[in-house]
Amino acid sequence: MNTIENLKKYNQTRILKLLENASAQNTKTLLTDLKKLNFDEFFETYNESQKEIKIDESKIKELPYLVKKELNPQMNKLFFDLGMEVLSSGEYAVVTMAGGQGTRLGHSGPKGTYSLDIGGSQKFLFEVLKENLEETNKKVGKTIPWYIMTSPENNELTQIFFENHNYFNYPKEDIIFFKQNHLPLIDTEGQILIDKDYHVKKASDGSGSAYNSLKNDGCLEDMEKRGIKWIFIGGVDNILLKQTDPVLLGMAIYKNSQIASKTILKSYPDEKVGLFCSYDKHPRVIEYSEMPREIAYELTSDNELKYKEAHIMCNLYTLDALKFLSEQKLPYHIAFKKNSYLDESGKEIIPFKPNSYKLESFIFDGFPYFDDIALLRGDREENFAPIKNKEGKDSPATAKVLYKNYHTKR
Ligand code: UD1
Repeated sequence: MNTIENLKKYNQTRILKLLENASAQNTKTLLTDLKKLNFDEFFETYNESQKEIKIDESKIKELPYLVKKELNPQMNKLFFDLGMEVLSSGEYAVVTMAGGQGTRLGHSGPKGTYSLDIGGSQKFLFEVLKENLEETNKKVGKTIPWYIMTSPENNELTQIFFENHNYFNYPKEDIIFFKQNHLPLIDTEGQILIDKDYHVKKASDGSGSAYNSLKNDGCLEDMEKRGIKWIFIGGVDNILLKQTDPVLLGMAIYKNSQIASKTILKSYPDEKVGLFCSYDKHPRVIEYSEMPREIAYELTSDNELKYKEAHIMCNLYTLDALKFLSEQKLPYHIAFKKNSYLDESGKEIIPFKPNSYKLESFIFDGFPYFDDIALLRGDREENFAPIKNKEGKDSPATAKVLYKNYHTKR
């Protein structure tokens, strides 16, 4: 089916009219872009994402977990030693999901290139993560391969940034970039948005993209060649993220789990964190944006939050688990956003309220494929200093204080 037939099949009346009014050059730009789009696959994903996600509370149960600071010394040592064995054998790799932009922080580049004054000097988010890896590298005498997920939007800028900073003296051959996918934005009438340069307007397709993208860009193969057995996947925006905790790793090995995660206690009902639970007998994270309010606020008889095990993007996988997940098609969620677009006459419309959907898959939607997950609850003060907003909660100002408190106590 050619592009025009596809546009007709999926009722893209705005684009069809736009093409009638566009110059020869703009028509060429737009048609070239549209030709690359797999219409059937995209609209299938879009239709799936429109289905309401219903959370049935009767299916939610608590997941078993261990609390790190309550482990008895023998257990702690056992886990620690098991974890250190893997780290010292060079069988461990780290993935950082850095496909996002720093827009919410008022930073125009990739989020990982945002810098803040911590520990007495100006540091980039990427640099903080690198320092965390280097600490372990020194202890074990090996370099942990570091895979960095970029997006079509920020891939070039991220790579130039690393080049310009001499890879922060991390061995260049052990930093491997791979690119996630992006998908068209679509409005409430099912019309694909076109940007002012006559390109299909696209956005990154979410953290869940990591699994397929690791495979498609050859990273899983590279890991296999390097003899990697365990892989950590984390975000770019938590300056206390522990990417190489031997106790979490050892616990996963001891429990023979394919996946593991470090959690913290959720501190208030509206905190923007996903929550771990067992759903229909499988591990799952329910994202804050999809959590029914009555469940988020539910208390136990001791007046504590009933669901409180927070997901902080601190996840571990065996290579086999990642290989398996890279073959799955995760569900897509929708985020309703404000996006400018060209109307059928070619005039740019800048909306004042949300008008379109961004389709995203979530990294933790891989968890329900497994029967269990090893959960280790860590201390918030040691593990979580997120930088999400320019000011107020979870901002550079709050993260700096948490970082300083942690590092002065060490
Ligand atoms: C995320 C988690 C949430 C968790 C919280 C902890 C998801 C969907 N949500 O929420 O459960 O409690 O962190 O801070 O994972 N990213 C990409 N590409 C994308 C989208 C995201 O690389 O297409 C990266 C971001 O750069 C960032 C991380 O994933 O490192 C978090 O993504 P974001 O979408 O900001 O999630 P949050 O709302 O912070």
